Amino acid sequence: MLGSECKKVLSEGHEVIAPSKNEMDITSWDGVINNLQKISPDVVLNCAAFTDVDGSEKEDLLVRKINIEGPRNLAQCSARYNCKFFHISSNYVFDGQKTIPQPYFEDDSLSPLSAYGKSKLESEIAVRENSPNYVIVRTACLYGINGKNFVKAIISHAVHKKTDVLKLADDQIGSPTWAYRLALQIRQILNFGGIGTYHATAEGYCSPFEYAGFIVEKLGLEARLEPCKLKDLARPAKRPANSLMENRLLKKQAINVMVDWKEDMNTFLDTFGEQLIKEAEA
Ligand SMILES: NC(=O)c1ccc[n+]([C@@H]2O[C@H](COP(=O)([O-])OP(=O)(O)OC[C@H]3O[C@@H](n4cnc5c(N)ncnc54)[C@H](OP(=O)(O)O)[C@@H]3O)[C@@H](O)[C@H]2O)c1
Repeated sequence: MLGSECKKVLSEGHEVIAPSKNEMDITSWDGVINNLQKISPDVVLNCAAFTDVDGSEKEDLLVRKINIEGPRNLAQCSARYNCKFFHISSNYVFDGQKTIPQPYFEDDSLSPLSAYGKSKLESEIAVRENSPNYVIVRTACLYGINGKNFVKAIISHAVHKKTDVLKLADDQIGSPTWAYRLALQIRQILNFGGIGTYHATAEGYCSPFEYAGFIVEKLGLEARLEPCKLKDLARPAKRPANSLMENRLLKKQAINVMVDWKEDMNTFLDTFGEQLIKEAEA
């Protein structure tokens, strides 16, 4: 989802080489070092990860390999060839216990609730330890035209199961963030010469119940959405109740390009809504 947007956005003004998993498996040290030697990049941006949050609970070894060993390989190889290294992390490194709507800051203590969150925390440590010239971008609740995401899941539900009740938490909050917008933000950090750990999410927030309602209403779909509490949703991985993050460093450095989530969601659904409905119907 994010990789394809970064490839598009960063290609304006940069030469981008975006190897697929077949061309470069990040869990293979040899694969990574050979690619970096061959490509000789100035910057390495890691958008690869194991992103199935519930699946991570029963795939511990694989998750650790892709989400920790992978970034460690990339960070070490980037350091060896003096490349700047960008890595993407997640709000799941926080426990979400802050009183809503208090946001998390870049230097708040990390306390993940899930196997996925723990792997992202350890990925951050691996990057800081191995790459002197690193950027970690923590984001949350991504959606976009490619990859699996909440927007597509809601459209699919409305298309195929409109008579079934869909229960969504109304006591959990986050900031739906367009992957395309995040790619613009990553380009901004790159061009600015940023370094360190940044939070980059949309402004404003909503619960999954409000988020789904917004999508259904905007697209004129029918769906039976019902509010429930986060604790009532029996899912393998625990989720943070509060996923709000403040883009404090971006704002301090005057490079924040993130906008209100509703503004981007309106643009996204105006642009891709019909296409997504047709894809769901097919
Ligand atoms: N999605 C969100 O809501 C969210 C929120 C916060 C942070 N993030 C972070 O943002 C980043 C991008 O997420 P995303 O949602 O764009 O992910 P995504 O759509 O799931 O894409 C991840 C990509 O990584 C590839 N990959 C998996 N294992 C690999 C390996 N060993 N070597 C090379 N490539 C491999 C996958 O290929 P295959 O599909 O072929 O396996 C897939 O193309 C990740 O670091 C994620 O943790 C995402």
